[in-house]
Amino acid sequence: MTTWMQELPIDDRVDALLLEMTLAEKVGQLNQPANVSPGPDRDALAAGRIGSSLYASGALGGNVRDEGLSIRAIEQCQRIAVEESRLGIPVLFGRDVIHGHRTVFPIPLGLAAAWDAELVERLCDVAGAEAVREGVAWTFAPMVDISEEPRWGRVAEGFGESPALSGRLGMAAVTGFQRHIGATAKHFVGYGLAAGGRDYESVQVGENTLRNLHLRTFKAAVDAGVLSVMASFNDIDGTPMHANRRLIREVLKQEWGFDGVVVADWSGIGQLVDHGVAADARDAARQGLLAGVDLDMASGVYLAHLESLVGDGEVPPDLLDDAVRRVLRMKFRLGLFDDPYPRTTADPIGPTAATRALAREAAVASMVLVANDGVLPLSDEVESLHLTGPFVDEGEALLGTWVLDGRGADVSSPLVAFTELLGDRLTHTDGRFSDLAAHRTRAAAVTVALLGEHPSRSGEANSVADLGLPAGQLEALKQLCGLGKPVVAVVFGGRPLDLAEVLRVASAVVVAWHPGTEAGPALADVLFGRREPSGRLPMTFPRSTGHVPSSVHARATSRVLDFTRDAWDGRYLDALTQPQLPFGHGLSYTTFRHGEPVASASEVPLGGQVEVRVPVTNTGERAGRELVQLYLHDPVAEVTRPKLELLDWQWLDLAPGETGTAVFTIGTDAFGYFGRDLTWRVDQGLVRLITGHDATASAAVEVRIVAAEADE
Ligand code: GLC
Repeated sequence: MTTWMQELPIDDRVDALLLEMTLAEKVGQLNQPANVSPGPDRDALAAGRIGSSLYASGALGGNVRDEGLSIRAIEQCQRIAVEESRLGIPVLFGRDVIHGHRTVFPIPLGLAAAWDAELVERLCDVAGAEAVREGVAWTFAPMVDISEEPRWGRVAEGFGESPALSGRLGMAAVTGFQRHIGATAKHFVGYGLAAGGRDYESVQVGENTLRNLHLRTFKAAVDAGVLSVMASFNDIDGTPMHANRRLIREVLKQEWGFDGVVVADWSGIGQLVDHGVAADARDAARQGLLAGVDLDMASGVYLAHLESLVGDGEVPPDLLDDAVRRVLRMKFRLGLFDDPYPRTTADPIGPTAATRALAREAAVASMVLVANDGVLPLSDEVESLHLTGPFVDEGEALLGTWVLDGRGADVSSPLVAFTELLGDRLTHTDGRFSDLAAHRTRAAAVTVALLGEHPSRSGEANSVADLGLPAGQLEALKQLCGLGKPVVAVVFGGRPLDLAEVLRVASAVVVAWHPGTEAGPALADVLFGRREPSGRLPMTFPRSTGHVPSSVHARATSRVLDFTRDAWDGRYLDALTQPQLPFGHGLSYTTFRHGEPVASASEVPLGGQVEVRVPVTNTGERAGRELVQLYLHDPVAEVTRPKLELLDWQWLDLAPGETGTAVFTIGTDAFGYFGRDLTWRVDQGLVRLITGHDATASAAVEVRIVAAEADE
């Protein structure tokens, strides 16, 4: 590319390049095989038949380790493409950098429990900075699927059930990643509704629910400037997403004006044949391109069939050009034409003191204290402590799912952290619970039982039919808790689990997700009160598997269900309906009292704003952090609306006895929704703004939305 062209606007450079490209070279830009290497792929690279590639261990990349990235191989491939192909178009190399690269942060569901967009932005910035040094130019994250299905293994990879929380954290992730590498909002759309929580299963959902819940997080990511969006494996009411022209070409690209790249998920285009909507690979390629899927990840059907489809008039050349334009635009935006080679430095790539400090901060912020009879915080002077359960000396398992380049050896395990703190006052029993564990529990002043799920139970293709703890753990925990000594249960996992019995027998319960590289020190920080627990649940923990789906945005029905009452409500004959642990729940080592919300006005004109102030007092003996949550209840709308919809949240750091005020400034657009005709609307009329500590909040103030002042 000559230097004067480098001064041109990107789209001019794209158009100039497009004019020079042959049909074969255009198709090559839409072809994304996995794991290209300079030997076997030399000819295809030199011929411009490979536009991008992802490095992954296979279709289930998040749960199978590969041998890691080879900067050398990436550089060699890039040199072939740039220096030997006719037009020298650089290759775009992608990798799943989901919740960290070499420094691993908590799984995204755990990060969501921190309710901190600025933190997510910082750690995605670090992840992007580490990845780009290994030749990665593009990550397939953040996952912003909304799901109320804890049986689904992929809830671990998302930011929970609330579009407001997931949308804001998704935007932060995009901003953080894209300081260094391209980001991808995935999986577009509705993947979290897979029937029965079984991965890849069919999805039955109407467009009104899609627009009012599931599309919102993708729109937020597009508004944040995400460079790519990944199509999802599922169908929507019979139309597979990889052939879904309505949602990809009409909504995402035309209605929203998204000008980035839509990438297929692994072989998703070719799998239209398996969906039974394409007769063969050629038909699948045709449907994928017409629907607006620009890049063919791993199936090869574009490379095999697009030239003939264009030649036969079955794929309009302008649609092919649009796809190529988007891919070239993304490469220009990433600076690949000006600087295509891995930006390595001499510094070793791996956790540093600074990135470990961030990982520890994020792990502490992710942990949720869900129950405590007063046994926590533990004292540094504790006489003796018994650490037990299958995660005592774990490293790799505490990293979580979708970790390709983090190393278990880098993890500071709970055993190491607790030993550093307690020395010979610590006893431990490794692995599964045992009689020795009972003996040591009897002998110790307090026991900390580390239980829960191994990451192999979460992530892609790892759904479960039962939300109970893995076999044997609950029985062992009950045995330990029956010995007359306090037992703190720390639950690791990638999803909401059925904790009913754990909550009944343990003295305290901490949901720790999979906390990443600094798991051990962060857990010690929280249990010993060196850091206050502040995590809040980003997903509802249902009372049992049979209660799924169970979420904060349950819609109003003809027979009222009051979630705030823990009493029988007639929905099930054999169980209460209320969640075991509500969305937004989380305790501190101090206590807080929320006052009544006060609105700055009782009437707000359309297009105006209202301020809501909530006094909160720290009524305990320790400083603490309280999350004030603001929910909307719209009692009369054109469609059934969630009984509670999270609008916003605010942290207050309060000293003992201190009263602070959470101040929310809300524009009337926040009360908008998609009506029966699927158009956006903000109604005049009464809305209730509810504030509190979690989804059982009931303190409310009413505000009436009235005609805009100019209209009066
Ligand atoms: C997988 C996942 C997707 C991932 C992609 C590349 O099948 O569904 O989330 O980014 O393939 O590994």
